[in-house]
Amino acid sequence: MNTFETSTAGLAFDRLATTYDSLFTFSVIGRSQRKVVWGRALKAFTRGSHILELNCGTGQDALFLAEAGMTVTACDASLGMIEQARYKMALEAPGATVEFLPLRTEEIDTLPQTLCFDGVFSNFSGLNCVGNLTSVAQQLSERLTSGAPLLLCFSTRYCLWEIAYFLLRGDPRKAFRRWSGMTEACLDGLKFPVYYPSIAQLRIAFAPEFRLVSTTAVGLTVPPSYVDSWVTSRPRLLKLFEAIDETVRTWPGLRALGDHMLLHLERVGP
Ligand SMILES: C[S@@+](CC[C@H](N)C(=O)[O-])C[C@H]1O[C@@H](n2cnc3c(N)ncnc32)[C@H](O)[C@@H]1O
Repeated sequence: MNTFETSTAGLAFDRLATTYDSLFTFSVIGRSQRKVVWGRALKAFTRGSHILELNCGTGQDALFLAEAGMTVTACDASLGMIEQARYKMALEAPGATVEFLPLRTEEIDTLPQTLCFDGVFSNFSGLNCVGNLTSVAQQLSERLTSGAPLLLCFSTRYCLWEIAYFLLRGDPRKAFRRWSGMTEACLDGLKFPVYYPSIAQLRIAFAPEFRLVSTTAVGLTVPPSYVDSWVTSRPRLLKLFEAIDETVRTWPGLRALGDHMLLHLERVGP
């Protein structure tokens, strides 16, 4: 494997690594949205599978998948995130079948050639930080056999909650910030590009090696995490939002209008 070199996004997330879990992972909304992704992961992946996790962050999903009987190779561009993930594993699940590696998603091909996987997982927008998804799809295709599932969770381009929330606060720039398909994020002073591909663009980027099986909204009436304090004081409302989302999250007109969308793709061909 090549010497690890991070990206600007990786350096930016380094600065967030120690607070990421308290800000997002353990927030009421973070838990609510992750629960949906976990439900889908348990359906898509089988016990005994070896899963490649991209942009694993602090390792919350990798440890969950390992507890569900999978082996996970979990990668992230941020050394700080990888350190947090290793620390969490040492503390909470020392024997877990997970290996955390510092690796940019753009460099999957630098993993040892002998490493092949039964599925691929990416949660909560790490792939929105990658400009060339066609190259990622090609690199992944060489590590997977026909029928292997990919579960990839992206930030959407059109988030109904975000539009309403920022318009009501008189900030149209933020309300429509994702609409052009690209923004510049700024984390603790470090700027990096974030992309918001449409479902059609993702279908094209992953073809012909992968076909799109389904798209599911994650956080449709359940709001984005910056509304957490408002929701925390309204638990019954959150339950109602979760129930509505459960009913409508796969409806064609709605599945790309939440905070996130979860794409289930499948390797086709040899
Ligand atoms: C919003 S966090 C999500 C983390 C985790 N998947 C989760 O569900 O909590 C996005 C993650 O993507 C990682 N990331 C951003 N760009 C990346 C890249 N090019 N390659 C690998 N990881 C990247 C960041 O370091 C960060 O950990």
